[in-house]
Amino acid sequence: MILLANFKSYKTRNETKNYLLELNNLLKNINILDEIIVFPSAIALQNTIGQISIGSQNIYPALNGPFTGEITLQQIDEFNIEYVLIGHSERRDILNESIDFIAKKFNFLVEHNKKIVLCIGESREIRERGETLAFLKSQLSNLDLNYKNLTIAYEPIWAIGSGLTPTLNQIEETLQFLADLTNKKIIYGGSVKLANIKEILSLSSCNGVLIGGASLNVQDFSQMIKIASSINKIRS
Ligand code: PGA
Repeated sequence: MILLANFKSYKTRNETKNYLLELNNLLKNINILDEIIVFPSAIALQNTIGQISIGSQNIYPALNGPFTGEITLQQIDEFNIEYVLIGHSERRDILNESIDFIAKKFNFLVEHNKKIVLCIGESREIRERGETLAFLKSQLSNLDLNYKNLTIAYEPIWAIGSGLTPTLNQIEETLQFLADLTNKKIIYGGSVKLANIKEILSLSSCNGVLIGGASLNVQDFSQMIKIASSINKIRS
């Protein structure tokens, strides 16, 4: 399984460094079978620490160049970063990233053999109109769903940061729908926390989780990693 922590624009560079040192310490004597990737803000990027990999929350599809305020491939390569998050609803909605621009990033990352975490998800209105599955399919159109280093994160927009989550049946139905479209890893995100991670990870079609707010507390995130490990033991 794969457990991702999305720090968004929380934590300074120092706070991130201290968090990672502490998390590494908390996991010291545990043999982690899952992939753990923390996505700090761009100014706090660093190299892998112990069993924790570092990912980039964003990329501008270029090696470098005149792209004020953006982060490019050469800059993330300096930290040997493999995982890059694209298509997060906050970037789609607040920064107006279009489906075409996300496809550009996707293709650029494929070209450079990076591990892509592509976020997709419906708004509350789309869910209420019963159009979720068709909408998710449209967010995946024109993308190579056979790309070997692809993970799809299903994150209903209305569940992000709201404390609300879909029912387990709704999550399972949606992840299963996506699993029928691609054989790549499918994970869930949106208000995952200590209280619900076990039941979400126990769903047969769920290959991991993307955690925002609840990952900011290092004790909570390390507990969640331990819960995931215990599920692995039951599964294997
Ligand atoms: P949340 O965020 O866990 O705070 O809901 C998830 C995300 O936006 O990736």
